[in-house]
Amino acid sequence: MGALATAVRIRHDLHTRLLDARARTDEIFQLVREEALYDRPIAERHRIIFYLGHMEAFDWNLLAHRAFGLRSFQPGFDHLFAFGIDPVGAGLPTDTPADWPAREEVERYNQRLREELDHAIEHALTRPAEGHPHLLAMLEVAIEHRLMHAETLAYMLHRLPAKRKICGPERGALTAVRVKPRLVEIPAGSATLGLQRVTGDEFGWDNEIDAHEVDVAEFAIECYNVTNHEFLRFLQAGGYENRSLWREEAWAWKQKEGIEHPMFWRREGNLWVYRRMFGEIRLPLEWPVYVSQAEASAYAKWLGRKLPTEAQFHRAAYGTPGGRSERSYPWGEEAPSASRGNFDFQSWDPSPVGAHPEGASAFGVQDLVGNGWEWTRTKFAPFPGFAPMPFYPGYSANFFDGKHYVLKGGSPRTARCLLRRSFRNWFQPHYPYVYATFRCVED
Ligand SMILES: [Fe+2]
Repeated sequence: MGALATAVRIRHDLHTRLLDARARTDEIFQLVREEALYDRPIAERHRIIFYLGHMEAFDWNLLAHRAFGLRSFQPGFDHLFAFGIDPVGAGLPTDTPADWPAREEVERYNQRLREELDHAIEHALTRPAEGHPHLLAMLEVAIEHRLMHAETLAYMLHRLPAKRKICGPERGALTAVRVKPRLVEIPAGSATLGLQRVTGDEFGWDNEIDAHEVDVAEFAIECYNVTNHEFLRFLQAGGYENRSLWREEAWAWKQKEGIEHPMFWRREGNLWVYRRMFGEIRLPLEWPVYVSQAEASAYAKWLGRKLPTEAQFHRAAYGTPGGRSERSYPWGEEAPSASRGNFDFQSWDPSPVGAHPEGASAFGVQDLVGNGWEWTRTKFAPFPGFAPMPFYPGYSANFFDGKHYVLKGGSPRTARCLLRRSFRNWFQPHYPYVYATFRCVED
């Protein structure tokens, strides 16, 4: 295939991926019952209707004028749906449903916007020599931004009462494997953080640049994620009432919000029940516990352990015992597939820990990618050589405030392209809604 034909094919692949990503976000809005579209399932975030417009307005604001010279046909909506809310410190939003446009208006905007963008993309893609020099990267940004929202929307809708949702297809639960919690020794070695470019065309967000090697001293890491069962023991031992286990601001947050157990749990008499995406079940003891970083840190401290650093996670997940070679995924070089872990929209809920032994790392550590993001104790900060993307300067830089922590790995609702080694997720430590679990280290 000639260079021109290859360039055209790459561009068509990008357009296909954008259409696939749209299908993912369309699918999630179909779960919302008509009467729930203006609900706000998470008090700190926008109402659901915002996200219906945001998916498209983001693409439009990114691409329309900059890449294609298109003129806005509804600038009011471009602005209204431009930005989400990062809930650090600020007060809760106070808007009412009446402040938002009717669903039909938003859908008309979305439809026209898609038609105009698709037409422009089709035109540009067959002419690789013309157009904006960053067009390919901008399309990757549009695709990954949308896929990230496919996940954040899922955990937002997780908070919506079951009767306000239309039940989607559910995978049967995987059988719990009997696993014994244990520590795995990881010898000292190096870890490469950030995106290593081989062809130069690989996409990564600004916070993944530049690749650099760090030395990691020997440490031991838990083979499996902390389960609901293990976390229940912490709770029963009074972990939520033991002030010495909590950082000062974490304790203040917990007291203020009245947090006494993981957000996905609910007490019913003497029983604990678990909020799945669609309905409740008895607390599944073998599933990884989903908690905030503050809760994860308190648990680790209770055991005299810590959360891993970002570099320790890398070493355990991608490193190898003999020497300096590293893997692209914990299991090796093969692309992610269902036998390796619970990711890429396979399920709405976690699997039991240890259910994917084929996804184990070279050291035998399991479930590092999939089944829940993993909290680290590393604050989200730029790598050496960081430069913001010119067409999305605030993507990462707005969060280098010392108030967010890095998460690695991926959840059942994380798209496969986001499972690359260098991808970094981040949240503030007092945000309990994320599909995020953890494991501890001794170092
Ligand atoms: Fe967004």
